[in-house]
Amino acid sequence: MTTSHTNVGDAQVPAKLAITELAEMKRQGTRIAMVTAYDAAGARLAEAAGMDIVLVGDSAAMVVLGHESTVPVTMDEMLFMTRSVARAVRHSLVVGDMPFGSYQVSDEEAVRNAIRFVKEGGADTVKLEGAGRMLPRVRAIVESGIPVMGHIGLTPQSVTALGGYKAQGRTAAKAQRLVADALALQEAGCYSLVLEAVPTPVAARITESLTIPTIGIGAGPHCDGQVLVYHDLLGLTEGHTARFVKRYADLATIIREALAAFVADVRSGAYPEERHTYGMAADEQAAFEAAVGETPAP
Ligand code: KIV
Repeated sequence: MTTSHTNVGDAQVPAKLAITELAEMKRQGTRIAMVTAYDAAGARLAEAAGMDIVLVGDSAAMVVLGHESTVPVTMDEMLFMTRSVARAVRHSLVVGDMPFGSYQVSDEEAVRNAIRFVKEGGADTVKLEGAGRMLPRVRAIVESGIPVMGHIGLTPQSVTALGGYKAQGRTAAKAQRLVADALALQEAGCYSLVLEAVPTPVAARITESLTIPTIGIGAGPHCDGQVLVYHDLLGLTEGHTARFVKRYADLATIIREALAAFVADVRSGAYPEERHTYGMAADEQAAFEAAVGETPAP
């Protein structure tokens, strides 16, 4: 894989990852790393870590906004977060996740909202969930010039219809349906496909049947890439997490301890110390105190 560079200020930053490089990575067997991010700080860290793709996921509804599902997050909220991520990232591909209701109604509305992700949000591409009735949406968005990442298997926007957050394609018939959906999404123009909570053999078969890369989350080791939710990966999600989550850090504990230490320092007066404060010239202080006629500050 060849990577060109652009100058940003004095720094040489690898140029934006091209969609075509992802297919090349699949051909060469180089696995693709993707993570979600919802703000500039997270996106900057993800890019510095070497992430190929940063997804502004609608999982934001749950991990950032505190909703019970991904359904309530709005276009405006997604655009707000996408802008913050896009501002921080130079090389990684920024994918805007189309929220529930932003593409289901018609091709026109899907295209209009995909364009908003690119024009207002600064996203490079968009992602949407489903196949079947969503295939014309994918075609319409791709024809408007915006690359689309598909998403099948467990599609959280349809969690009620799916009967909960559970693995999909676990019977022969349902697994065959997933293979057919994957091929149809490739045919419709998707440049890659997220496979969520799908049995390993099914994800493996889909991956070898497609020329576009698959990115797995709970879909086993044979996908062309892997994605995790930022908060899950870093241990910011407390309580139950899905079987496929691997925690690479326990930031919740680190953050809770740091915040508790701050509270304790505030209560005891240990913070701020002299080095955290600003002084003023003695003559200015004297003039100030004379003017206000107050007791001098300690
Ligand atoms: O919204 C999200 O975080 C996602 C990933 C789980 C792929 O869609």
